[in-house]
Amino acid sequence: MLSHVRRVLLVGFMGSGKSTVGRLVAAGLSWRFLDFDDRIEEVEGRSVAEIFRTQGERYFRRVESEIAEDLLSEDHVVLGSGGGWAAAPGLLDALPDGTVSVWLRVSADEAVERVRPQAGVRPLLATGNPRSKAEALLSERAPRYGHAHLTVETDGRTPEDVAAEILALIRRKRPGIEIAN
Ligand code: S3P
Repeated sequence: MLSHVRRVLLVGFMGSGKSTVGRLVAAGLSWRFLDFDDRIEEVEGRSVAEIFRTQGERYFRRVESEIAEDLLSEDHVVLGSGGGWAAAPGLLDALPDGTVSVWLRVSADEAVERVRPQAGVRPLLATGNPRSKAEALLSERAPRYGHAHLTVETDGRTPEDVAAEILALIRRKRPGIEIAN
């Protein structure tokens, strides 16, 4: 199934670095980087926060799952999913052929620190105590994220370092994997 990798899917919690690392991995492969949230905002014509506020999370999840299906049919792409997408049951076990999924692992503490400068952008951490919300969501979601093919730690590391590890894992550490051109 993984012998010809045509897309890399990054999953993980808010602040795990999916977009930043994803762009670097895409550059390393000379592929495109596509971000679930960016596509949702493009299609809906408003921000994720605005969608949550006006139509609620259920609506957002419905749009997100349609967008995900669309983006997962693209080839030669690195995909940055939204932090909640891979938390739905079964999704990471039913990825289209040629997809390598990577969980960017981050602790609740570091996630909260990383997203702090953009407070308000992430509705799920915008109210109440972000630290305890992150802790609760993360422990609920971690078992699902753990279904990814590969796991990479991100705490205390630069995006460049994380991207380099992903590229090495994809290229070398799995015998028989070839990157499709
Ligand atoms: C969410 C994560 C966000 C965005 C939305 C919901 C989540 O994406 O999709 O705010 O449920 O974890 P990032 O992980 O890119 O911040």
